Amino acid sequence: MTYGARHVAIIMDGNGRWAVSRGQPRPYGHRAGVEALRRIVRAAPGLGIEYLSVYAFSTENWKRPPEEVETLMDLLVEYLRSEIEELDREQVKIIFLGDERAMPPRCRREMESASARTARNQGLVLAIAVNYGGRDEIVRAVRRILEDPETAAEIDEETFGELLDTAGMPDPDLVIRPSGELRLSNFLLWQSAYAEIYATPVLWPDFDEAELRRALEQFQLRDRRYGGHA
Ligand code: FPP
Repeated sequence: MTYGARHVAIIMDGNGRWAVSRGQPRPYGHRAGVEALRRIVRAAPGLGIEYLSVYAFSTENWKRPPEEVETLMDLLVEYLRSEIEELDREQVKIIFLGDERAMPPRCRREMESASARTARNQGLVLAIAVNYGGRDEIVRAVRRILEDPETAAEIDEETFGELLDTAGMPDPDLVIRPSGELRLSNFLLWQSAYAEIYATPVLWPDFDEAELRRALEQFQLRDRRYGGHA
């Protein structure tokens, strides 16, 4: 079944509330969030999704308590180590969005190994955003332009897009935000100019294939005009 959403972006929100509502510490919710991610990555190709971008750690998340930051970094390493066999077998290509220079060396090692191993895969592109901020991404692109002023005059929307972390990817068709919040929270700001936004009160650890189908069904009902008339 395909719904016409080639690129789906997800803000994986609500892990903390999910844990607290169970009387557990927040990292418990992040662990459950990884399980939700596993489910969604498995389901995505069968639903016609070609690119799946997930917000795992924002440039603002460094302000969280050090133990929580540590857990998120550990979970990234664990996820990549435990899933790489299956993801590679399923032809998933793993890429990372964000400024990886600030990531701890143990994460960078795993990230480099996962992207190198899956670089030639032809299936789902899984873009994991870590130390990612939409504004930071735009600033990094502008800095690159300033390093080579001769090309600055040739910059247009298309060439600017190629300087972003999502170079080569289509813009997201659908941005999903669980947990009832109605914000983009600095995720894919440039790329989401015409994305449809789907919000649901379901917390990310409870998100599953049925929820993803619901979001895609809603997406199909939308009338996308890209600023023009019907
Ligand atoms: C927001 O929930 C979620 C995050 C800051 C991290 C998302 C990370 C994961 C799902 C797991 C790690 C990812 C990988 C790729 C291994 P929140 O803590 O802000 O929830 P709250 O709004 O209820 O407090």
